Amino acid sequence: MSNIFASRSLNIIEDFSINERRYFFRKVDELKKAILAGDEEAMDKFRINDPDFGIYEVFLEDSTRTKESFRNAAKFHHAKVSELLTTSSSINKGESYADTFNMLSGYSNCIFIVRSKVEGLTKWLSEECAEYAARNGLPYRPAFINAGDGKHEHPTQELLDEFSFLEDLGMSFDSIHVALVGDLYHGRTVHSKADGLKIFDHVKVDLIAPAELAMPESYVEKMHENGFEVREFASIEEYLKAGDTAKMWYFTRPQLERMGERILQKQDILREAITFRKDFLPLMKPGTKFYHPLPRHKEHPTIPTWLDKTDLNGWERQAINGMYCRMVLLSLIAGRIGDDYVPVPGEHDEDRRTEEYIIQVEPNKEKKSRTYSEGVRPIDEGIVIDHICKGDEPGAIRDHMRLISSVLGLDDARGGEWVSKGSDGKYKGIIFRPGARPLERKDLKRLAAVAPHCTLNIIRDGEVKEKFRTHMPPRIYNFDDLCCTNEACISNPVNGEGVPASFYRTGDGHFACVYCGRFHTFKEIWKKH
Ligand code: NCD
Repeated sequence: MSNIFASRSLNIIEDFSINERRYFFRKVDELKKAILAGDEEAMDKFRINDPDFGIYEVFLEDSTRTKESFRNAAKFHHAKVSELLTTSSSINKGESYADTFNMLSGYSNCIFIVRSKVEGLTKWLSEECAEYAARNGLPYRPAFINAGDGKHEHPTQELLDEFSFLEDLGMSFDSIHVALVGDLYHGRTVHSKADGLKIFDHVKVDLIAPAELAMPESYVEKMHENGFEVREFASIEEYLKAGDTAKMWYFTRPQLERMGERILQKQDILREAITFRKDFLPLMKPGTKFYHPLPRHKEHPTIPTWLDKTDLNGWERQAINGMYCRMVLLSLIAGRIGDDYVPVPGEHDEDRRTEEYIIQVEPNKEKKSRTYSEGVRPIDEGIVIDHICKGDEPGAIRDHMRLISSVLGLDDARGGEWVSKGSDGKYKGIIFRPGARPLERKDLKRLAAVAPHCTLNIIRDGEVKEKFRTHMPPRIYNFDDLCCTNEACISNPVNGEGVPASFYRTGDGHFACVYCGRFHTFKEIWKKH
């Protein structure tokens, strides 16, 4: 049986299923115990033990813990460990990331550990380098580990955070109640928790941050969708007053380097709301533990240093766990362990949604095309797109009809746009294009993407001959006028990497970028027309 972990990339925490992550945590527990007991035989079962197996670190953003724990983990494996000096590489001569990493893939490097400001970078590279490896007959497919990408995710930090929580929960996946405190807006480690905490059957999350640093709405939505109980508070003080506080507190630092001028000016006030104070101490429940991905600021730590020697200190063990977790991750991706994993049927099913979203319906025989008016005349030949943006305000409907017309290349045709009010009091838009050519399959796909929930009437000889209803497509890609709105995303044209934008539909009807995860409405995914 082939090892399902071998050559897998970890771009976001969801790349590993819940069951796979639970398996991972059990293995970390096993290895940590073996190392602490000095059990060489047990340790050897995890070791890659191959001096030609290349593990490459590429840190395009600063790092201490992640980089060094990975380097030490790689050395444990007796593998070949390299590091790209990014200050003197050809990336600075304008070379694309794809070219740089393709090249490095060719030098017997099987696992890349990459940190970058550019969100979704490892996802893109894992696709590109797989093709490069196949083209060049390399005997392996390079795997990518996201070591933190901008404000997006930090999946390996997520693994070590959860392992540390689990240790304090007696390795039980039953339930967790955790408070996330600090800069929840810019911090990628807390963003990964929206999916990461799904390993627990019952999740209660308290979000503590002033409005300027609050968790982005899309992650809060995701937490609700995942069935978490979520509460939000503006400060630690407010949280303590509300009661029912968690016994696990996960602090983060204000990420000054990612803040704009406006927020930076307020940093002292903001920091106050998320910094622990001595007078809070008596209010902590017995057995409470604090965690922190670190680093903490030497002058303004959100967990003050006088707490280091108290029982609240869970963050030091958490940082040490980073190395054990990364050792096991490398072992899995190298295919050294994982043969005994028992897959759960359907655990990666979400990738296979293929439902039909353009439905042909019977034209309503009584309702002749005469009901559609071209100015004052009924249409003989052409198309009418109806029910556009039903329920929106007239101005918004008109704006969107302009976009639809442009996306479908209907700007140069005759006809017009109309906003009407139905008997239910709701507005809707109608686009008339007398004489327009019938739409082809590819056009219908574009129509569904830019105007879901509309109807398309194809009119010939004064009659509606064909009628289609559009629904939200499960995926939108392969159109060159798509664009993720996040400028930090690898697919955004400002980054010049030539990565085509691509989206998938979320449970609540948004379109998330496959690279950076940003949520968009169907109106927001198009380049300016
Ligand atoms: C975190 C990161 O880089 O996102 N640090 C880490 O990897 N341990 C958190 C941070 O920088 O605040």
